[in-house]
Amino acid sequence: MEIFDQVEKLIGEINAYPISNAEELEQFRIAYLGSKNSIKPIFGRIKDVPNERKKEFGQKVNEAKQTAEARFKELQSSLKNAGTSDKYKTFDPTLPMDGEWEGSRHPVSIVMNKIIHVFEKIGFEVAEEREIEDDWHNFTAMNTPEDHPARDMQDTFYLKDSKSSLLRTHTSSVQARVMTSQKPPIRIIAPGRVYRNETISARSHCQFHQVEGLYIDKNVSFADMKQTLLYFAREMYGADTDIRLRPSFFPFTEPSAEMDVWMGTDTDATKRLTKGTGWLEVLGCGMVDPNVLKNCDIDPEVYSGFAFGIGIERTAMQKYEINDIRLLFENDLRFLKQFSSAT
Ligand code: DAH
Repeated sequence: MEIFDQVEKLIGEINAYPISNAEELEQFRIAYLGSKNSIKPIFGRIKDVPNERKKEFGQKVNEAKQTAEARFKELQSSLKNAGTSDKYKTFDPTLPMDGEWEGSRHPVSIVMNKIIHVFEKIGFEVAEEREIEDDWHNFTAMNTPEDHPARDMQDTFYLKDSKSSLLRTHTSSVQARVMTSQKPPIRIIAPGRVYRNETISARSHCQFHQVEGLYIDKNVSFADMKQTLLYFAREMYGADTDIRLRPSFFPFTEPSAEMDVWMGTDTDATKRLTKGTGWLEVLGCGMVDPNVLKNCDIDPEVYSGFAFGIGIERTAMQKYEINDIRLLFENDLRFLKQFSSAT
């Protein structure tokens, strides 16, 4: 019967339909599986088929439909696979990204930017300076005597064949740079990388980051420093945060202090972080030593000021509960991806 031949022919067509890309596959879908597909009208002609062959005809038309479905599925998945492997064959940097992971800030940058932002709000300006320093700005100007252990080769990376060029050991060197090139009032925040010849371990690294702060003007007092640092602590750790200043020693400040913030001992995490005391050590600070002012040609009889230094890695490790400083320098995507939503 002619109508049976037509179904046969249709099955042949379905099997032979040329498909080599997604567009052709879509045309195939419209032709044989879409709402206006060409199988439907043939099925409609079942009324012309004699009763005893109606069942056979129905099966034949179904076969056509199933053939189209099977071919569609098969080609769909093989085109998809081909697409993925193509992606690796040629690298086209102009293609839009797949949107899975748009990158994220490094935890060190997140913490550094936050600190900068907090001080910018009260009028501090960012000062960026060189990482290769000379002995004078890093040590001498900062009132660190010749025989100070920090000057030892074991702590400081000196440049080859040089006794005076070194990798700065702290951002305090920026204080000397700024004080010798600007007149008070000075209000700066200096973020940056510093280097020390330390054995690399979970707790220490030969490179890390600090943010230095310096405020010089007439009549700057210890109370000004305390109030500024309290503001910082509350911006950083929450509005009710309490601080305490413990006496300490730094060659470039007198008096010197270390600032702790109150974390409490309510949770296991805060207990661990504060070694059971509730207090977390956050930064070093003090009133700028008159010798430092003198070294930089600022009259200590007229001006006074305070300075502070914050270790970024340590702050980031506390904030994100990171237990190994090396993770911050390895750029392992599995680690970095965890900060996608962090701000
Ligand atoms: N430079 C010190 C260090 O690297 C940190 C520091 C302490 C900086 C006290 C300061 C300060 O400005 O006043 O350990």
